[in-house]
Amino acid sequence: MKISSNLKKALNDQTALEANASNTYLAMASWCEITGYEGSAAFFYVQAEEERQHMLKFVHYLNDMGVSATIPGTKSPASNFKSLELIIKTALNNERTVTKAIHKIVEITQKEKDHSTYAFLEWFVNEQVEEEKKFETILQKFDLIGRDKLAINEIDKILNGMSATPSDIGSA
Ligand code: FEO
Repeated sequence: MKISSNLKKALNDQTALEANASNTYLAMASWCEITGYEGSAAFFYVQAEEERQHMLKFVHYLNDMGVSATIPGTKSPASNFKSLELIIKTALNNERTVTKAIHKIVEITQKEKDHSTYAFLEWFVNEQVEEEKKFETILQKFDLIGRDKLAINEIDKILNGMSATPSDIGSA
């Protein structure tokens, strides 16, 4: 079956959103690295790779459906950040934006009765629940542990631990 031009556009737009998310996390990883937050850098490098895998899922799906994927250009992400806490807040907001975009595409598939694309998107719906939860949990640590140097060092260690367990690398 063919997907509609409406869905083709939505899926290509999502490809761009995932590519931008990957670049944003790469910029965050780089900032963390030069700032001395090694654990956070490791965490965000993994996040950047995960988002790249998400982008590839959309590219492959579009190609599998017989419509060529449009490989997106990416915007230059912000490269200077005020604090680790603000980075996590920004990341959470980014994930919320992605969730809304995914839900919108799901609504189109429902309207158009496109069951294939609906099934394809199910993985992303679940993934977004996990992604939002992950960043909410990290954000809570600032209230629980604190914001002084020792606390940030502790949070950096936690992020390092989280970087060792990527949820979906290689499953694209
Ligand atoms: Fe692929 Fe975290 O959105």
